[in-house]
Amino acid sequence: MRRLAVIGAGYVGLVSAACFADFGNEVVCVDSDEGKIEGLRRLKMPFYEPGLLDLVRRNTVESRLSFSTSVDEAVSRAEAIFIAVGTPASKTGEADLSGVRAVAKEIALHMRTYKLIVQKSTVPVGTGAMVRRIVQRHCRRGVSFDVASNPEFLREGSAIENFMRPDRVVIGTWTKKAENLLSEIYAPLYLIETPMVKTTVETAELIKYAANVFLAAKVSFINEMARLCEALGADVQVVAKAMGLDRRIGSKFLHAGPGIGGSCLPKDTAALVRFADAAGLKLLIPRAVQDINRAQREFVLKKIEKAVGALKGKTVGVLGLSFKPETDDVRESPAVYVTKAMLARGAKVRAFDPAAMQAARVLLPRVEYCKNAYEVCEGASGLVIFTEWNEFRRLDLARIKSLLRRPVMIDCRNIYEPDELRAMGFKYYGIGRTPRAV
Ligand code: UGA
Repeated sequence: MRRLAVIGAGYVGLVSAACFADFGNEVVCVDSDEGKIEGLRRLKMPFYEPGLLDLVRRNTVESRLSFSTSVDEAVSRAEAIFIAVGTPASKTGEADLSGVRAVAKEIALHMRTYKLIVQKSTVPVGTGAMVRRIVQRHCRRGVSFDVASNPEFLREGSAIENFMRPDRVVIGTWTKKAENLLSEIYAPLYLIETPMVKTTVETAELIKYAANVFLAAKVSFINEMARLCEALGADVQVVAKAMGLDRRIGSKFLHAGPGIGGSCLPKDTAALVRFADAAGLKLLIPRAVQDINRAQREFVLKKIEKAVGALKGKTVGVLGLSFKPETDDVRESPAVYVTKAMLARGAKVRAFDPAAMQAARVLLPRVEYCKNAYEVCEGASGLVIFTEWNEFRRLDLARIKSLLRRPVMIDCRNIYEPDELRAMGFKYYGIGRTPRAV
């Protein structure tokens, strides 16, 4: 059992705190937002993530997990402190590190004995060194500490599984002492033979960006292929399947769609472009990812206009607003972007999402929110599926068709078979799928 503190009860912080507690550690999770901490004490989760409530409940009841607004209290109790505060992208794409700086200073001011300070949320290369300088400047003389980088690879919707059964754990340190302590915290994962990559802080910091931007590039590549497939009369699903069977390529992250969204891949791509620029390197692939993603959203909008006709005065049904299934996160969601563009062109939009409607209301107040997929279709001149929630995979298509004003479906996730829908009388549009010649 170790005493740990996690500063920041956002996505990474809260999931990590709950999972570390479940490993048997005593964890205090700190956030400056009193409302959030109060809510967590009453088991009110600040976001939706499968399994999280149960994990928080169990570990709170068993007194391994607690919540606080006091960094002082957390620092005095814990030997390792994980920084998991947000690093939003500024207007120029640079990560905003003011939260990290403020927390580093506060930790330093309250330290009385040795502490391991671990940066967990994604931060540009060089942030570990910056944290070390800040802590050095503000801590009492004679108090020693280490700084480490331990990037998190959680995916929204499967975060707990990702934490408990990760593909790898990256441990970036500058001293053996820090490496040993951090490795020991992850010791429960040795039992399931999780590979541990032990390296320097700078390398650990870069690994996270390299992995995320590579994933973004992989999706962007198949999205470009999808557009090419439409131009040449090929089927991107089959192209992706055959590509993925090559083990060097692999089948994951090869699904064509409306473009990448979420709080990570777009932001990390922008940040990588910025810090590579600052290092004097004009990297081409991350820039191309950004251009392709913009183009993909426009491509989807044009596809809807082609399918439905001029949008002014038309009603369009939308299924899915979150950037992907199993989350209520609408940040950088292509669904939100395209819906906004449809509204700006004079369309009326009726929408349903199993989890993200509350979050979407703030960004899209003019949308008419519905109880379910069928209500969305009533009187609509077309139905757009943006997010591949499981419940959209087996819709009662005959009912959908009878409710729509015109049987038009734009399936941005290729969840239905074009031939089957066309046989049912739908005007069906997928992404990168041309009708098979018969
Ligand atoms: C991403 C990474 O996958 C995680 O490994 C990483 O830890 C996390 O960012 C982070 O930095 O914290 P996440 O943002 O939850 O996780 O979302 P992904 O599952 O990666 O999806 C990103 C976007 O790509 C979504 O909009 C999704 O719809 C899209 N996507 C993904 C596709 O369009 N096609 C695919 O084949 C895969």
